[in-house]
Amino acid sequence: MLIFTEIKSLQQKIKSLKNGTTIGFVPTMGALHEGHLSLVEKAKKENDIVVVSIFVNPTQFDNADDLINYPKTIEKDLSLLKSFNCDIVFTPTPEEIYADDIQSQSFDFDGLEFQMEGKFRAGHFNGVGTIVERLFEVVKPHKAYFGEKDFQQIQIIRKMVEKRNLPVQIISCPIHREKDGLAMSSRNTRLTTAQRAAAPFIYETLKKAKTLFGTKNASEVIKWVENEFKNHPLFNLEYVEIADEETLLPVETKNPTKKYRAFIAVFAGKVRLIDNISL
Ligand code: PAJ
Repeated sequence: MLIFTEIKSLQQKIKSLKNGTTIGFVPTMGALHEGHLSLVEKAKKENDIVVVSIFVNPTQFDNADDLINYPKTIEKDLSLLKSFNCDIVFTPTPEEIYADDIQSQSFDFDGLEFQMEGKFRAGHFNGVGTIVERLFEVVKPHKAYFGEKDFQQIQIIRKMVEKRNLPVQIISCPIHREKDGLAMSSRNTRLTTAQRAAAPFIYETLKKAKTLFGTKNASEVIKWVENEFKNHPLFNLEYVEIADEETLLPVETKNPTKKYRAFIAVFAGKVRLIDNISL
């Protein structure tokens, strides 16, 4: 497994690959878990070589504390990637990526950026668009892999690829969960023992919401979820929404020709957890 911290040497390596070598790319912010590794596995099956980037992108954090406290486990990450036969790891510094101008570009994602996460994390998707486009430019992958855990992120990246005509195929991968149902996340390691033990409540609630949406309208289901969290001693609900998968706009009733998802964001103390379920 080759590790590059400089764009130039990574690009030299990529240029030296035999013509026609397909590159699968998995961008990450490190603190890797089985969710990330499921993306690497899929990329490995579908491409000749796999490149994983590990870069905690400062421009997508709207909260300075969250950036400082973001878990960093680089040695463990590298040994996990090696054991999954990853070919190349790219671990740049912020200066390497942004030179001396650590700022986002401004994107128009046709309104996808104003829903859900966009309402609560100002500038987040401009940061994501900026780094993902930059990484695509450096790595030049044929396929890039993203997890449905961050479903809105996938739709935004698809939109960017479509609008900017980027030569890459976006592959979405299912949410990987702990045995008790909690969606795997690098942030889970920051939960207290009590918060971690209670955290399956989030997915349990989403599953019940899914059943309820069979017979009730979205607003009734949302009210029910809000009520479930109202008196919870450990979790604060930030939002719950039922939205169209394509537009991410909230819906009220089902149209059988469309696909819907319920999306949720919850605070456990200062730790922010998100999850979603296909309805
Ligand atoms: P990060 O949170 O490290 O996630 C990297 C990729 O792993 C994302 O595509 C994310 O959706 C996926 N992932 C995380 N947890 C998952 C789970 N439980 N099951 C399946 N996939 C999961 O998302 C980012 O980093 C950043 O925004 C990034 C795209 C790297 C840009 O900085």
